[in-house]
Amino acid sequence: MNRTDEKAQAMNLPPVYNHVEKHGAFPEISHDENARFNFLTNLNRHLDSVVKPGNKVAFDKRIKPWFQERTGHDFHTSAEVKEAMRQDTYYQMSSALRRAMLEMTQQASRSMVLRQIDSLADKASFYNNQRPETLTLDPDLEIPHYLKIVDYHCLPGSYYTEYIADDVANAAADDARFFVTTAGKFGELSDGSSKALVNFLTHNYPKFNPRRILDIGCGAGHNLLALAMGYPDAEVIGIDVSAPMLRYGHARAVSLGVENVRFIQANAETIPFDNDSFDWVQSTMFLHETSTRAINNIVREVYRVLVSGGLMLHVEHAQNTPDMSLFEQFMRDWDTFNNNEPFYRVMHQMDKTEWMKSAGFQSDNLLQFGIHIVNNNNHRLTGDGFQTRQNVFGAWKE
Ligand SMILES: C[S@@+](CC[C@H](N)C(=O)[O-])C[C@H]1O[C@@H](n2cnc3c(N)ncnc32)[C@H](O)[C@@H]1O
Repeated sequence: MNRTDEKAQAMNLPPVYNHVEKHGAFPEISHDENARFNFLTNLNRHLDSVVKPGNKVAFDKRIKPWFQERTGHDFHTSAEVKEAMRQDTYYQMSSALRRAMLEMTQQASRSMVLRQIDSLADKASFYNNQRPETLTLDPDLEIPHYLKIVDYHCLPGSYYTEYIADDVANAAADDARFFVTTAGKFGELSDGSSKALVNFLTHNYPKFNPRRILDIGCGAGHNLLALAMGYPDAEVIGIDVSAPMLRYGHARAVSLGVENVRFIQANAETIPFDNDSFDWVQSTMFLHETSTRAINNIVREVYRVLVSGGLMLHVEHAQNTPDMSLFEQFMRDWDTFNNNEPFYRVMHQMDKTEWMKSAGFQSDNLLQFGIHIVNNNNHRLTGDGFQTRQNVFGAWKE
């Protein structure tokens, strides 16, 4: 850590963007782009920890009494809370600022990536050509409808759009912006979830020794690589529908020297493997970007490809609990309405137990636990709006 990093840490600010380790396929960052990313990361942190909590004050002091006086009763649903909050000027300001921050972040990463789109593709190809046998693309694969109807979290063209041959632009843009929108809390290589998961499993299930692991919706493989490093004797296969993510993820893996991985372009609703093929099927922040129909197909497929005694796990948003206030439910759904994450809200309300049982998993074999993200940049932020706990649910197959 140099002095700037020490200062940032002492002031409970995010790590400095250009001091954080990057992998070989990452875009080149100019001085001004760096400054922009540092500004946006800190703006995000400020909005989350200082501005966002003010909404609760506005709700308690203004909106709730106003609603009760007007209707003669308390809120019955989070939709009512939403309609009332939308009229509050503090909420309007806080929401507009957050949306503007997200748009600026997408613009910052997109402009950085587009000015070097050719050299990024060349760089990825350089790594991919070193190990062509572990990257399999399928140009005829159909992109699911739900992915095409909206640009997920405002990434123009979403994960799958390709602009040139061997393109990795949208994957690189998504990688660059991830650090900003998470204020660096997932660690240098944005892999803190899987690092935590590996720690949890090796501690709680020391005899679990998976030989084959499948990561569905693996994206650019942030978490897939951490699984591969955590279980170096296993073969870890990632599937995703988006070619730019797979090219970039594979190049990233080669550049980091991780060898026990393969990337395949395929849909998790129709997993291209035989029954009983995997000891562990994992997904990380993937299911909430699908749809009701897709998620039902996916769980059936996961059950099919797992061996008996195999493990299914999903790092995902926790579902709403009966003791959760309507205000909290409303705040949790912000991304559904403002950040192009249409399935978010459904995931919050979904009964995951029934979903897993519907595919054949037995009640006694279901799991749910929390993990604390491992942040390897030695830079820990604390305080309001900086949650580092993630929810994991899944099941053992009988
Ligand atoms: C939020 S990203 C996943 C992040 C990734 N798991 C990680 O650990 O960094 C969601 C990914 O799901 C992919 N995707 C969406 N629907 C899919 C499907 N039915 N099958 C496979 N991949 C899918 C998208 O292309 C995108 O790359």
